[in-house]
Amino acid sequence: MKKLLVALIALLPSLAIAAGGGFSYPLEEARIDLEDKASLQRGAALFINYCLGCHQTQYQRYQRTAEDLGIPLDLAKDNLIFSDQKIGQKMTNSMPKEGSAAWFGKQPPDLTLVARVRSPDWIYTYLKTFYVDTNKTFNVNNAVFKDVGMPHVLQDLQGTQEAEMVYDTVHGKETLVGIKLTQKEPGSLTPEEYDQAVNDLVNYLEYVGEPSKLDSHRIGTWVLVFLAVFFVFIYLLKKEYWRDVH
Ligand code: HEC
Repeated sequence: MKKLLVALIALLPSLAIAAGGGFSYPLEEARIDLEDKASLQRGAALFINYCLGCHQTQYQRYQRTAEDLGIPLDLAKDNLIFSDQKIGQKMTNSMPKEGSAAWFGKQPPDLTLVARVRSPDWIYTYLKTFYVDTNKTFNVNNAVFKDVGMPHVLQDLQGTQEAEMVYDTVHGKETLVGIKLTQKEPGSLTPEEYDQAVNDLVNYLEYVGEPSKLDSHRIGTWVLVFLAVFFVFIYLLKKEYWRDVH
């Protein structure tokens, strides 16, 4: 049994290669910090400005976002809601389903759970690796999402990138082994500022994927405080019981 397991584990990487078939761009690590309210607020603003027009987060309400992120409700009403929606409503848009599928080849998916489905690192890398490809409808392609149907909506901020495809001979076949990206035109942000902006966005999407995580952090702290106090009582009680025994 043990041997069988070892053999299976040894086989796994080759199975993965056989199934995946080829190159996958290495993911960069997003710095997720749900305690960082300022980052979450910046991320929410970016999301509403640059993404909500196409992508809904239909399980998330404006009010919940504002409350969780510590944004006063009247500020949220004036600065976060551009449509005629109310603060208690879900964060949706009015993009027609059929129209969007025809414009982009694919309907922009709801992003409520995207951080859980794709992983924060994947989204972070995805938003950083759009590159110029004049064969495509929107003149861009993406290193982690080949032939993506989404335009580079953050291009004003990031600028444009060029890609150099690196090929090598693997098992006698010409195979893509790397994609090298270099800045072509600058955007309005420096590369460091752009990384920060994208990280804020991903941080926000991670929060949206599980808003109750913020609650569990808070509750977790109280549970620890309770246990600490409880321990003192138990300790005193124990001493009380044993006093007569000694
Ligand atoms: C102009 C419309 C449009 C805007 C604006 C837009 N997207 Fe997209 N997005 C799309 C479309 C269309 C797809 C589907 C692409 C495909 O499947 O080829 C997509 C796909 C994605 C995906 C991949 C989802 C998946 O799991 O397949 C992510 C993540 C994403 N968008 C994030 C964002 C973020 C973050 C923003 C804001 C910075 C944004 N998008 C703004 C149209 C848009």
